[in-house]
Parts: sequence; C-alpha cells; structure tokens
Amino acid sequence: MTKKIKVLLLGASFSADLHMDGYSRTEKAKVVAICDKSTDRVKSLAKDYSITDYIAYTDIEEALEKTDCDLVDICLPNFLHCEAAVLALEKGKDIICEKPLATTVEDAQKIVDTAARKGRHIYYAEDWLFAPAIRRALSIVSEGAIGKLLYVRARECHSGSHSPFAQKIAYCGGGSMIHLGIHPISFMLSQKNNEWTELVAMTSGGEKNNLIYKEMEGEDWSACLIRFRDGTSALLEGNYITKGGMEDILDFYGTEGCLHVDLNFTGPISCFSMPGVNYVIEKAEMNTGWTRPAVDEKYHLGYVDEIEYFIDCCSEGKDARIGLRGSDGLEALKVIACIYQSAKEGKKISNPELQ
Ligand SMILES: NC(=O)c1ccc[n+]([C@@H]2O[C@H](COP(=O)([O-])OP(=O)(O)OC[C@H]3O[C@@H](n4cnc5c(N)ncnc54)[C@H](O)[C@@H]3O)[C@@H](O)[C@H]2O)c1
Repeated sequence: MTKKIKVLLLGASFSADLHMDGYSRTEKAKVVAICDKSTDRVKSLAKDYSITDYIAYTDIEEALEKTDCDLVDICLPNFLHCEAAVLALEKGKDIICEKPLATTVEDAQKIVDTAARKGRHIYYAEDWLFAPAIRRALSIVSEGAIGKLLYVRARECHSGSHSPFAQKIAYCGGGSMIHLGIHPISFMLSQKNNEWTELVAMTSGGEKNNLIYKEMEGEDWSACLIRFRDGTSALLEGNYITKGGMEDILDFYGTEGCLHVDLNFTGPISCFSMPGVNYVIEKAEMNTGWTRPAVDEKYHLGYVDEIEYFIDCCSEGKDARIGLRGSDGLEALKVIACIYQSAKEGKKISNPELQ
C-alpha cells in the first residue's frame, strides 16, 4: 500500500467533525495532529473518532512549525483561513481549505499566489460537488435526458449559523450569501467553467434591515440572478430564515424536461416519535412528531467522498478538478463581491473579466 497521507487538522469544531468523519472512513490518511485554541474541543473530537496517537496544539503557528505532515486541513473560522493557508503553503504543505477561501478577494488572491509561488496545491472544499444525488443529477443532465439546460434554481438555507464568528462581517466576510449561498454559486461556476456574464442581486442588508437577525452585521437573506456565457441562467439563494432543518435544493429546467434534487428531506425513513429522535438532520429545531431522520448525512452531503478525493489528489501530487481548486474559491469570492456590490448599488454587474 502507498504511504498514508499525514494530516494536520486546524480547528476542532463543526466542520472539523465533518472532515474527521471522512478521515475515519479511509485507510489512505492519518490525522497526526489537531490544533484548536480550545483543548476541550480537540479532546472531544479525538474521543468521538477514537484516535489517541495524535499531537494536540492550541497555537496554529506552533502546530505548523512542529508537525511533520503532507496536508494541512483548514477548518477554522473564515477570517483565519488566509493567515493559516499562507503559513502552511510557505512551509511547503498542500492545503484543504473550507469555504469561503477567505473573507476578501484580496486575501483569497494572496493564498492562490502563495500556492503558485511555492508550487503547492489548494484543495477547495466545496462538498456539493461530491454529493451523490447531485452527481447523479448531473449525469442525467449530461446524458440529455432533460434536453438543453436552460435554467437552474439552487439554494442552501437554514435558521442561522451556530458559529459566533458568523455574526461579524470582519470574521465572516458577509452574511448568508458568503456562508451558505457560496455552495450554489460555486456549484454553478464549476458547471459553466467560471464563465458568468452578468448578475443582479438583493440582500436583506444586515442589522436592522435583516428579516430576523437584527444583531447580525451580515445579511440574513440573499438571492442572485446570474447568467452564463452559454445562455444558461440561475437563481441562487442563501438565507438564515429557514426553519425546520437545512435545505440544499436544486431544480434544473431543460428544453425537454426538468429535474429536482433535495439533499436533506428525501431519506427513506419517516418516523413518528413522541419522546423525540436523538438526531434528525442538520439544524432541525424539532425532533418530535413526524420527522425524516438522515441515514448517513455526511456521506449524502458529500463530505466523505470530498476527503477521499483530496487525499488521492495530494498523494498523486495533482491539482483538483474544476470547482475544487484555489482559483475556483477565488472566483466564487469575486462573484460574491459583485453580488454585494449589486445589492448595495441596486444595479446589474457584468463580469469584468469577460468584457
Ligand atoms: N462545507 C460546509 O458545509 C461547512 C459547514 C460548516 C462550516 N464550514 C466552514 O468551516 C469553517 C469552520 O466553521 P465551523 O462551523 O467549524 O466554525 P466553529 O466556530 O464551530 O469552529 C471554529 C473552531 O476554530 C477554533 N479557533 C478559533 N480561533 C482559533 C485560533 N486562533 N487558533 C486555533 N483555533 C481557533 C475555535 O475554538 C473553534 O473550535 C468555516 O470557514 C465555515 O465556513 C463549512
């Protein structure tokens, strides 16, 4: 067997758990160190996955300095992505980076430039591209079953981030569009070779203008209409006003048919429970009465295959495919910056790179 990829995991909370689940299901990698400023979280994550032979750190720089690893997996709050990514790349490591690549286009560009200068790879963690139902839907579209694709409507929505860092623009880079809408944005960009031509957007605007979360600096509702070079249009949305569990929903409309994907509410189990089911689906507020408990949520949302794919790329020393490279994370942030500009100025924006 080829040697195991050694991983330093930065962060030990929600998304680190999603990634750890992926590492726990493969023989091809080993998490050798975990760094989080909370030692309790590191211990609890390691305990959940029964790993004992790892080194715990609380300081990112020290972890990067001392850890002998091939891959640094960044599951930190958005505002720390740039600093951690640049430090890791400078040390000659490949990185996996959670979305968004950074909080600003400038920081994302810095990460991409550093990787290019050091000859290293950025694996941009867009899990939608690995969700089995989305992959199956794309294969149906590409076989021509719904004719020529004309229009896509896609959204990720839930009732608000659990992370304290999602409340401030300086920490997060914005609100629901950068945090949730980035999934449908990155998905569509990857399908259309990043060739968007124009967009127009609205958001709730943040703070007192928000629909629910008046204390949150970023918007709690956002939507964007975007057109691509081949004429396909899309309506892409991210919001924090959705009760009842996370929605990841995509609708495809073609000249000869249509196709609908729902990643969260279409499991084979229906359960009626008066005491409540321990876990239903991500961000579900209720667990009693009729629910549709997820079967293997992390797999169906794409995280398991995502980790396996990035490990393979790292071990073969190759770049990821479109949608999953550092340059794609950068492009998603450029689009999001245009979305915020469009919403603020109330105008349509054309892609400056396709004029
Ligand atoms: N792909 C997805 O579906 C998905 C889902 C959730 C989160 N994410 C992304 O994952 C990243 C992390 O999100 P999360 O929900 O796990 O956040 P979180 O707030 O739950 O966890 C962040 C962790 O980072 C640690 N941390 C903060 N500052 C630190 C520092 N200076 N040094 C060391 N550790 C520090 C915190 O203690 C915490 O454990 C974000 O970029 C987020 O956008 C992606």
